[in-house]
Amino acid sequence: MIAVPDIIIAVDGWSSTGKSTFAKLVAKHFGFLYLDSGAMYRGVTLLAMEKGLIGPEGIDEPGLKKALDAGFDLHFERPGDGSTRLYSGERDIEKEIRTMEVSSYVSPISAVAFVRSWVDERLHAFSVKGRVIMDGRDIGTTVFPAAELKIFMTASDEVRAQRRFDELVQKGTPATMEEVMKNLKERDYIDSHRETSPLRRAEDAFELDNSDMNLHEELVWIQGLIQGKFGILG
Ligand code: DC
Repeated sequence: MIAVPDIIIAVDGWSSTGKSTFAKLVAKHFGFLYLDSGAMYRGVTLLAMEKGLIGPEGIDEPGLKKALDAGFDLHFERPGDGSTRLYSGERDIEKEIRTMEVSSYVSPISAVAFVRSWVDERLHAFSVKGRVIMDGRDIGTTVFPAAELKIFMTASDEVRAQRRFDELVQKGTPATMEEVMKNLKERDYIDSHRETSPLRRAEDAFELDNSDMNLHEELVWIQGLIQGKFGILG
């Protein structure tokens, strides 16, 4: 095992910058636990949808508060193949939380302050042992402001839209480049303008612009960072 200390690595950034792909790779390489904070927001959204607490008419906030307080059992499980999956009780909901319907409701749900504190509490509980890499929008600013290593990911709009477009084509979900670009900009706007914990780069975060980088180059980049910061060859 590579001797990187039991630190917390926070990875934040804009949509479709490849945060989770990068974080998973780093987790595998250094033997860290990978946690996807966006999955928790998606899990809350899915359960809220199933309970009829969110719909085209908006969010039933008092109902959602009551349901969260009564207990949404959302937790991660690791089947042993290196992946991390979100469960609601005994139910594996990893696939359901990635549908377009959940994606369309997750932004308003994640802007609700009491939802954010509920999720933050769980993210802390999952990370008590350290040696965690977590990706999201406010990990280095709000969830773990004292994280030992913070990374902020960016890429050009064109590169991000192309990646998202390719992903949708692969999933067999047709969309035009214009639609993808519009959706990306809307999400950027909502994520960075909401009142509670908006997306922004922590002052002490290292910026990774991967517009012209492949995954191997991203790994080499973080190895250099870890070596410089902790004096360790990773
Ligand atoms: O990373 P993702 O696309 O799966 O995240 C889903 C949504 O959750 C995204 O629209 C923003 C929100 N989110 C957030 O507000 N804070 C986080 N730490 C992670 C995700």
